Amino acid sequence: MVERIDELYRESLTLYTSPILKSGGLKYLSDKYIPENPLYRKEHILKLSKWVYEFIDNSIPGTIFLEGPSGTGKTMCFKIVEKFANRRMQEESISESRIIYINGRNRTIMNVLTEILNTIGVHTPHRGLSYGEVISRLLETSRRVPIHVCIDEIDQLRVYQDSFNVEDLLYLFSRNEGLSLTTITNNYNFLGDLEDSRVRSSITKEKNLIFERYNKKQCFDILWERCENAFRKNVISEGVVSKLADYVSDVSGDIRDGIDTLRACVEICQGDGLQIIDEKVLERAVELYRNRRMIQKIHALSNSQRTVLAAYYFNIISNGRTEQTMEEIFDMYYTLREKMGKTSTIQDVRARVADLVTFSLLESIKSGRGPRKGVERRYRALIPMEVIYRALITDPELSDIAKGLIDEVRKKRLRNYI
Ligand SMILES: Nc1ncnc2c1ncn2[C@@H]1O[C@H](COP(=O)(O)OP(=O)(O)O)[C@@H](O)[C@H]1O
Ligand SMILES: [Mg+2]
Repeated sequence: MVERIDELYRESLTLYTSPILKSGGLKYLSDKYIPENPLYRKEHILKLSKWVYEFIDNSIPGTIFLEGPSGTGKTMCFKIVEKFANRRMQEESISESRIIYINGRNRTIMNVLTEILNTIGVHTPHRGLSYGEVISRLLETSRRVPIHVCIDEIDQLRVYQDSFNVEDLLYLFSRNEGLSLTTITNNYNFLGDLEDSRVRSSITKEKNLIFERYNKKQCFDILWERCENAFRKNVISEGVVSKLADYVSDVSGDIRDGIDTLRACVEICQGDGLQIIDEKVLERAVELYRNRRMIQKIHALSNSQRTVLAAYYFNIISNGRTEQTMEEIFDMYYTLREKMGKTSTIQDVRARVADLVTFSLLESIKSGRGPRKGVERRYRALIPMEVIYRALITDPELSDIAKGLIDEVRKKRLRNYI
């Protein structure tokens, strides 16, 4: 018995030990990991920390703006400065202050404010508080203990009760002692789009940091450091990482793309029992990652846009035609919408097909109807069928209908075959 359990124990260790990853190496391939050695962002970190220290030490209001495309280290820089500020408070016996990080995605202004209160330990009753009550409790606290809040992805914040929006929040943090703010966005129009003149006049752009995309060398250095921490010796070469850096800097300059692709490499090696990430594995990982991104992009479309794509797909599996006319797409779209209890018009479909062409998911081609019959416009997918299929069967709203239709087509084929 003891022997068997020992054997099982050893097997559990071998299974857990990866031939390619160092023990604990996976954490370096997470985009939540804050690097010990943040490259190329020293200036940003120093400026940001100086401004945050100034705000909290003097209890003055104000806003810092961090702008730049996705995966350029904005969140990372704030998280590092948050750590620095807390460390400084302990080491230098600076009087108490609070730094709070909140992501604005899918939250309302009210959610953000109550989250701040909860984090600083202000009791909020079960019945909830009114907007005014929340503000007065916040101001009461911030007069005693300066609070610096970071709202990441601030452009994603939602309006509360049709009246309190992001401008109210900016106004609040620009006028009240002890309250200051860092906002992060990848929308360059965010500041320009603010309409409220009260807010415009009270914010200055002098505390504004721009994050540029990383170039190839920078991508390489950042990714190489991750690889050295994550992988065992000789699992991945500089040449392969350089190829990855080439790809990342070419398509986006977003380090997250590189890190996610490295995780896809791990998945492929684990699935196939490989011990080296060579160029072939990398190519497969790039493809896998690209397809996953495409599926995410499809899921982010509106219901009717996704239904158009579904209609195109079902036409292919039922009649094999990859180039389809608007009418063909409309017929299938109509059937699908009927199953969902929704109506449809050809104008609707025209507009949605045009959207998909704009998003580079479909392309429009002219094809001949036959001799002397003129030409007609047809549509064809720019993404692999496999990707559309995966997107459909994992679609939160369409998957049941999709699976049902796929089954129907399969049965029909089987009947014809017999
Ligand atoms: N200069 C850098 N050095 C090391 N890692 C970086 C650097 N910039 C970004 N990263 C890493 O890339 C990932 C994405 O960065 P993040 O700060 O989340 O980007 P953003 O907020 O701009 O979208 C994180 O894992 C982060 O640690
Ligand atoms: Mg971020």
